[in-house]
Amino acid sequence: MSDQPMSDQPMSDQPLPLVLIVAVARNRVIGSDNRLLWKLSGDMRHFKAITMGHPMIMGRKTYDSIGRPLPGRETIVVSRDSSYQPVGVMVANDIETALLLGQAAAVRLGAPEIAVVGGGEIYRQTLDQAARVELTEVDLAPKGDTHFPPLDPAHWQERGRVAHKRDLAAGDEADYAFVTYDRITKSGATR
Ligand SMILES: NC(=O)c1ccc[n+]([C@@H]2O[C@H](COP(=O)([O-])OP(=O)(O)OC[C@H]3O[C@@H](n4cnc5c(N)ncnc54)[C@H](OP(=O)(O)O)[C@@H]3O)[C@@H](O)[C@H]2O)c1
Repeated sequence: MSDQPMSDQPMSDQPLPLVLIVAVARNRVIGSDNRLLWKLSGDMRHFKAITMGHPMIMGRKTYDSIGRPLPGRETIVVSRDSSYQPVGVMVANDIETALLLGQAAAVRLGAPEIAVVGGGEIYRQTLDQAARVELTEVDLAPKGDTHFPPLDPAHWQERGRVAHKRDLAAGDEADYAFVTYDRITKSGATR
């Protein structure tokens, strides 16, 4: 990563930023038995709005739990199984290839960034490369087998927060807040 100001560098040398999108309970749980643990209609709308038109990178287990490509987005599934090829998605056999496919897809789609949408294994392997985290704080503390790592305040700064009460009519199971974290870097550069 160069220490030069971003404006000194040609656009073609700039990788598009990676944004992690995740919903996290108070105890950092994000799922269990390969499923989500809450119903939050507002968060589903939020997820759709911020991923629409973007490439989305996800792990094979998360893709299996969804079971289909989500419309209006390009899905890149990460799996070590070279025979795994579900219809309508791209498959990468390692994270580096997934990120390259994500960059190419973002350019093709005219998207400003690449979304990483889980699950736990993929978040852990991409967090160091992320420029931003769009985190939904879910006001629950369920038992689960998959967690999101704590964001180190030395590297991450909260930039915005919008709190929401549960919509009982929509069947929401908790209050929640949309929180945006930006990576802090000494040079001011992000990717
Ligand atoms: N709350 C949220 O926002 C949120 C979002 C997404 C998912 N989730 C939850 O997270 C859970 C799933 O997460 P998870 O950690 O179990 O699985 P995951 O990250 O979705 O997928 C793991 C799989 O990805 C592939 N993989 C991982 N690292 C790889 C690498 N370096 N190279 C190639 N392939 C790699 C492997 O697939 P193969 O086994 O095929 O090789 C691995 O089994 C579920 O409960 C889901 O509901 C929560």
